[in-house]
Formats: sequence, C-alpha cells, structure tokens
Amino acid sequence: MANNIVVVGTQWGDEGKGKITDYLGQDADVVVRFQGGNNAGHTIVFDNKKYALHLIPSGIFHDKKINIMGNGMVINPIAFKEELEALIKQGVNASNLFVSDRAHITLPYHIELDKLQEELKKDNNVGTTFKGIGPTYTDKYSRIGIRVCDFINDDIFLEKLKFVIAWHNNIFKAYNKELFDATKLFKEMKEYQEYLKPYVTDTTKLLDDLKNNNKKILFEGAQGALLDIEQGTYPFVTSSTPTAAGVATGSGFGPNNIEKVLGIVKAYSTRVGSGMFVSEIDGDIAHYIREKGHEYGVTTGRARRIGWFDAVVINHTRRVSGLTDLSIMLLDVLSGLDEIKICTKYLLDGNEIDYFPALINDLERCQPVYEVLPGWQEDITQCTDFNDLPINAKNYINRIQELTGVQVSIISVGPDRKQTITRNNMW
Ligand code: IMP
Repeated sequence: MANNIVVVGTQWGDEGKGKITDYLGQDADVVVRFQGGNNAGHTIVFDNKKYALHLIPSGIFHDKKINIMGNGMVINPIAFKEELEALIKQGVNASNLFVSDRAHITLPYHIELDKLQEELKKDNNVGTTFKGIGPTYTDKYSRIGIRVCDFINDDIFLEKLKFVIAWHNNIFKAYNKELFDATKLFKEMKEYQEYLKPYVTDTTKLLDDLKNNNKKILFEGAQGALLDIEQGTYPFVTSSTPTAAGVATGSGFGPNNIEKVLGIVKAYSTRVGSGMFVSEIDGDIAHYIREKGHEYGVTTGRARRIGWFDAVVINHTRRVSGLTDLSIMLLDVLSGLDEIKICTKYLLDGNEIDYFPALINDLERCQPVYEVLPGWQEDITQCTDFNDLPINAKNYINRIQELTGVQVSIISVGPDRKQTITRNNMW
C-alpha cells in the first residue's frame, strides 16, 4: 500500500515514463512534475489516439485529477500556452492544473544562449533540445532568474528583465548576435503572462494539504537518471535533477514522505544527444530495434542511439534514486531476436568493474561485459499476465531482477494502457 509514488527514468530518458504515469495516474488523485521543462516529450496512447506532452503533467487526461507543475520546473510561457490550448481543443479539462509560483521562467534569450553555447562547444556539444533549459537553470542558480511569481507581476517582471537582458546582451554582443530589448520583450510577454496567471499558486501548500487529506500523489519524472546534473554523465546531462531526490527540492514535498520509487527501464537502452554509451550497438540489430520501437525523439524527431540493457547503469540509478520497484518497458520490441545480451560489468583497462565511473575519459574506455540469453519469437503484445509470456521472456525479466536486486512490478508489452502486465500493485 502506498499513498505516494515517484516515477523516474533510470536510463537516458525516453523509457516510457509517460505511459506508466498515465497508467498509474488512473488511480491517483494528483500528478506532479518536479523538474525539467518542455525538453521532455511524454507520449501517451489511449483509445487509439496518441498525445505528446512536454510541460503539462500526464494526469491532465483524467478528469478531476489535480495536476501540479512544481517549483523545480522551468516553464516557457509561450510553450505552455501552445500546449495547453491544443489540449483544451482536444477536450481536456484544465481547471485542475496548478503552476508553482516559484518555478522559473524560460524566455527567448535562454533559447538563444542555449544555441550559442552549443555552437561554441563545436564537437563537444551536449546535443541539447535547444529549449533553453540549461541557461534558465543557470540564471536560477546565479540568482538572476525570473520566477513565475515575478513574471506575473508587471513592475517586478520589467525590472528583473531589464537587469538580466543587459547582462546577457554582453554575451550576445561579444559574439555578434542580435541583442534583446527588455521593453519590447516585456510587451510581447503580456498575452502569455495573462494566460498563465489563473493557474499560479503556492503548490507546496497545496501539496501538503492534499497529502494531509490522504490523497494519492504521483510524481512524474522527466528525462532519466543518467541525465541528472549530479549523478549523470556530466557534462552530457540536462540541468535539472531527474532522480527521485529531485522530488523533495522540486516540489517541496519532504523526502521522508516518499513511499515508493518506481524506476522506468527500457528492455534495452537508448540515448539521444552526445555522450558515453557503453552498451551501444549499431548494425542490423540496432536498426531492427530502432524501427520496431519507433526510437525517434518526441521533441526533436532525432533518431535515438540503441544499446543492450546495461545492469551497471541500472545499479547506479537504483542507488541514486532509491528504487523500490522496476517497470520494464517495450519488452515486445525484443520479440524476434535470436539472442539478447545484458551488459553485466564493464572492463576498464583490463579490470572488471561493477560501478559507473564519474570520469568521462574512463567511461570512454569501458568495454561492455555481456551475458547472452536466448531470445523468443512469439508476439507478446496481447499478454496480460506474466505467466502468458514465453519462457525466455520470463527468464530475461527474472535475470534483470537478479542483477539489479529490485523487483519488477510492471511489464509493458505495447503502447496502449491495456498492454500492461502488473505483478505487484503499486498503490
Ligand atoms: P537539454 O535538457 O535540452 O539541455 O539537453 C541536455 C541533454 O538531455 C541532451 O542530451 C538531450 O538530448 C537530453 N534530453 C533532454 N530532455 C530529454 C528527454 O526528454 N528525453 C531524452 N533526452 C533528453
């Protein structure tokens, strides 16, 4: 039994968190996003329709559920309006959506700074989504950011905007880029200010009241643990805290209140953008998995890099997120392969290691140590019970469980809500 569950990515994002948040959200009263911004792309499929969310929590499709965008998020008000308007047109009820007054605002100059930094980094670029995420968090930690509560207050917004634009214009000037005009941007933002205003509140108080009323709360992570600014493959990371630790700071929900942490794991691995990827593969099998799993970015459309399941990674993310359960996603994509590999250890300069190195140069030299398991040929997309799965699929799941020491409570065999096998009730 649990009254609150955290859902987090355990790899490099795109593990299928959207589907599971939506699935568990059916029994939740509240869904909370606590980090990131519209760099995220959560795909949700139900009633044969596909929806892509970037900023808005996945609970938005359930009428009457409360959706909270926490203080740890960075919110682009233009993207917020576009996304919400489109959802409302599709019949979504937004009256239960609440935005933290302490979240930070992403403005057009953040996007230009993001582009400029990537351009200057040349071959060492991060491969960001160009949504201005890094520069927004940089402003936040430099204490020159604009929060939602500032943004919706005309005088404060204009004053802060003047300062921060004068600051960033120094950079744009140095690199011969177009300069920003605070007064002009202030006027352009009017319509977005007005649009956002009705949703703004102190969400930490709201969340506390909901908890005290025994409401079921689901925390929806974006990205994945290896993109975490603290625990990921720095500097090839995002600028927020996608591990479960981010829930406490990013929503104001005390860490001692967290009951369960469900790690979302792809049955294989993918990564978009640059950076180390020890179990990466290419060739026919990578192509097979990419096409069958539709491994192209929801936000950017980029082809994702493909690799085998990596137990070294999942053990790292188990530790840093305190995972209590796993949900294995896209198991159906592996049907039809003769053999399936699991990376169990790394070989670093001739020595076997079972931890995930911090130093990028070490990671670059790591070779995967594989265990090979027999695959299965059957279509598993209609299986609704663990016992319906082919023996080799069951063995694969059991082996993941052994290698990580975390129980596999959910298995997903297709994009629809119905294509989900539950072994342990999460709530
Ligand atoms: P940023 O978050 O746009 O700054 O990008 C930093 C890194 O995180 C890049 O490698 C992106 O590809 C990656 N990234 C950001 N958001 C997502 C996501 O939702 N899924 C997968 N990768 C992401």
